[in-house]
Amino acid sequence: MSQLHVSTHPLVQHKLALLRNQKTEPKKFREVVRELAILMVVDATADLPTVEVPITTPMGVANCQKLRDNLGLIPILRAGLGMVDGALEMLPYAEVWHIGLYRDERTLRPVEYYNKLPVNPTVQVCLVLDPMLATGGSAVATVDILKRWGAQHIKFVGLIGAPEGVQRLQTAHPDVPIYLAALDERLNEMGYIVPGLGDAGDRQFGTA
Ligand code: PRP
Ligand code: URA
Repeated sequence: MSQLHVSTHPLVQHKLALLRNQKTEPKKFREVVRELAILMVVDATADLPTVEVPITTPMGVANCQKLRDNLGLIPILRAGLGMVDGALEMLPYAEVWHIGLYRDERTLRPVEYYNKLPVNPTVQVCLVLDPMLATGGSAVATVDILKRWGAQHIKFVGLIGAPEGVQRLQTAHPDVPIYLAALDERLNEMGYIVPGLGDAGDRQFGTA
């Protein structure tokens, strides 16, 4: 079973309250998604391997560390787009590879509509970005795509998850750790997370 990390950081919890509030408008919503992405990426990269590099300071030489691996950010369109800027602020050299999926409203199954991954993997670590882990269908489909591509180390970085989605992702991909800002109660009959925040794509892009 993969590890589930649910943040208890007070800043994360404070910002999540803003995001959940139905009165928060798209401009503020996008701002908070970006800020939460920064905080979540810090959490999700805490165990990345580093290598030692000597750095000359004005006073001498310091033994410093730099990241060993190339990183890829994999936002799931549309809602994952809002997490890219914040993640890139922390990881400016990361490659960004978009995966386009939408949930069929009736079946709740993910439908793939965009994938421009190159033939061979170009990164050692992939961070899948999507604010919502509901049924888990979109996350599982994205990890399937990345594994078929040849990705070795994949982490899921989200904001709100439902127990159903966590279990589905853990069962399908026990090697993929999951990082969330909150684990909510359940899904409703429409497949929405309760209490959640509503439709993350619509709330970011004003399309409700
Ligand atoms: C939302 C969300 C996830 C997916 C989660 O996307 O951003 O990708 O639903 O649901 P799941 O865990 O049940 O698959 P949606 O399909 O609404 O597309 P959008 O981001 O383009 O609005
Ligand atoms: N997608 C969303 O944007 N919100 C949910 O609650 C579930 C899926």
